Amino acid sequence: MATPTSSSSGRTWWKEGTAYQIYPASFKDSNGDGLGDIAGILSKVDYLKELGVDILWVSPMFESPQIDMGYDISNYEAVHAPYGTVEDMQALIDACHKRGMKIILDLVINHTSAEHAWFKESRSSRDNPKRDWYIWKPPRYAEDGTRLPPTNWRSYFSGSTWEWDEHTQEYYLHLFAKEMPDLNWENEETRQAIYDSAMRFWLERGVDGFRIDCVNMYSKRVGFLDAPIVDAAVFEQPAWSEYANGPRMHEFLREMNQAVLDKYDTVTVGELPHTPDPRHVLRYVGANDKQLSMVFQFDIVDIGQGASGKYRFQDWKLPQFKATVAKWQQFIEGTDGWTTAFCENHDQGRSVSRFASDAPEHREHSAKMLALMLSTLTGTLFIYQGQEIGMINVPKEWTIDQDYQDIESVNFYHAAIKVARETMAGNRQAIQDETDYIRRSIQILGRDNARTPMQWDDSNKSAGFTDRPEGGWMRTHDLYPEINVAKQIDEPDSVLNFWKSMLRLRKLNKDLFVYGNFHLYEPDNENTFIFAKTTFPVGGTTASAGQAAVVMLNFTGKDQTVTLPSLDEVGALRLQVGNYVDSAASEELDLVAGPGQQRTLRPWEGRLYMSS
Ligand code: GLC
Ligand code: CA
Repeated sequence: MATPTSSSSGRTWWKEGTAYQIYPASFKDSNGDGLGDIAGILSKVDYLKELGVDILWVSPMFESPQIDMGYDISNYEAVHAPYGTVEDMQALIDACHKRGMKIILDLVINHTSAEHAWFKESRSSRDNPKRDWYIWKPPRYAEDGTRLPPTNWRSYFSGSTWEWDEHTQEYYLHLFAKEMPDLNWENEETRQAIYDSAMRFWLERGVDGFRIDCVNMYSKRVGFLDAPIVDAAVFEQPAWSEYANGPRMHEFLREMNQAVLDKYDTVTVGELPHTPDPRHVLRYVGANDKQLSMVFQFDIVDIGQGASGKYRFQDWKLPQFKATVAKWQQFIEGTDGWTTAFCENHDQGRSVSRFASDAPEHREHSAKMLALMLSTLTGTLFIYQGQEIGMINVPKEWTIDQDYQDIESVNFYHAAIKVARETMAGNRQAIQDETDYIRRSIQILGRDNARTPMQWDDSNKSAGFTDRPEGGWMRTHDLYPEINVAKQIDEPDSVLNFWKSMLRLRKLNKDLFVYGNFHLYEPDNENTFIFAKTTFPVGGTTASAGQAAVVMLNFTGKDQTVTLPSLDEVGALRLQVGNYVDSAASEELDLVAGPGQQRTLRPWEGRLYMSS
C-alpha cells in the first residue's frame, strides 16, 4: 500500500493546476497599436486551454504611467487604457471560468505609482491626512552641512531608495524607481484601503487569487539604520537586511487572510526574494498558519547573478542548480507547506539560454529537456509565455540604447559605466572590459529577454504579435521565423507539442509528479542531473510500495554515460518519454539489477522512466 506523502494532504485545484504567466504588453495586440491588450489575451484563451493550462496569471494590467511596465499602479480599480477596460477584464475572467480555468492577478501593494491619488495627497503637505500613508523622513546632514538621505539604502533600480521632496522638505522611500513610493504598512488605515481597492475590488469580480509582488517587503525595520557596506565604490548599499522579512511581515499576511482572502476560494503565490532558509520560508507557506499558499523562492533564478550587483554574471556549475532544485522540492516533506516549480518569469532571462544551450543545434533539445524536468517536479508548476515554444534570449548584437527597454538593466548599465569612468580614469582598456562584461551579463540575465513580443507566426516582421506596420513597442526576436507557435502546432515533435504531452502526463500521474517525493542522485556530478520521484518514502522497507519515476538529464553538449541509481523498491521501469525523436523506442530499466548498469545520454538529452 502506498504511504501517502505528507504533502498530499489537502489536495486542491491550485496545487494540481498548471499556471501560465501572461505579460500583457507583449502577449498579443488586437488593435494594431503595437501594444498587447486584454482583447488579445482573450483571443488566445483557447490556445492556452489546449496547451493544458489551468490557471492564468496576468501581470499588471492596471492603470499606470508604465515607469516599470505596470508595476507602478496609479489606480487599482482601473485598467491601463491602452490595454482595455474593467469590462474587458470581466470578459476575460468569465472566459476563463467558462472553460474551467482560473485566473489570478498581480497584487502590487508594496508601493504605488507616484501618480496614485493617495500619493498625490500624501506629498501635498506635511499635515495632509494621507501623509503617513507613505514613508517620509527628514534628512541627515554631513559634518560639512551637505544634506544626506536618511539611510544608505540602494534601490533595485540603482541609486538611493530616498527621493527628496522640495515642496515639503522631506525624503520619501522607494525601494524601486523614484516614481514608485513605498506604502506605509504600519498605518492601519492604509492597509484597509489596500485590501479594499487592490483586493476586494477584483475578488468581487471573480478573480481566483493573486501573485503577490515583493511579498516580504511591507514590514520594514522601522529604526531605519544604514545597511552594511559591501560595495565601497558607492554610497548606496544593498539593504534587504533592513527592509525584507521585517518584524511585522507574518502578522500583516495573517491579517490580510482574515480580512479578505479567507472570504473567497483563493490562491496566493508570493514573490519571496532574500529568504534562503527553508524554515523561514515554511513560516510563510504552512497551511495551518494561513499566510500564503506558496511562494516563488528566488534561489533558482538568482543562479549566476552577482553578489554586489545583479548584472555581474558569475559562472555556476550544475551541482549548484541541482542542490537548489532539490532543496525547494524537499523542504515541504513532512510539513503542511506547499512549493512551486518554475524557472522563468518576466524578470528573468530565458531558461534555455541561461540553464541549457540556445545554440541552433541544441536549443530544441534544451527546451524539451527543461520541460521534462519541470513537468515532473513536485509543487504547482508555473510556465511563462513563450517558454512553451522554447523562446531564447535576445541576440548579443542588441544595444542598450536602442533595443533594451527595462529600467532596471538600463539604469544598472549607466550607473556601472559611470563608476567605471570615475574609478578607472584613464585606463581605457579596463573601462572597455567592464562595459563588455556588464553588457554580456545583461544579455544573459536581463529582464528584457522575457519581454520581447510573443512569437505567434511568421506572417509579418512582428511574428504576428501586432499588425502595426512599424512593429511592436519592443523589438521582435530575430529568430521568430524559426521559433513560433504556428510552426510548432504543425510539427508533431515541436517543443510546443512536447510541453502539451508532458502537461497531460503530469495530470494523469499527479500522485507522482505533483505530490510525490523527490530524490537526488549524484549531487556532485557536473554533467548530469538524475532524480527520482516516488509516491512512497524511498529507503522504506515495503517492497513495490507504489509508483516511481526516474528522470535523467544531460546538461552538456556532449555524450554522457550515466549509472543507474538503485531503487530497490520499484523493480523495472519503462522508458516513457525522451526528448530525442527516436527515444520513443521502448526500453526497460531494471533497477533491481542495478546499480552498475549504464546508459549514454546524448547532448542535452532527457529521459523519463516510469513504473507501470
Ligand atoms: C517585482 C516584479 C518586478 C517589479 C518589482 C517592482 O519584483 O516582478 O517586475 O519591477 O517587483 O514592483
Ligand atoms: Ca493593442
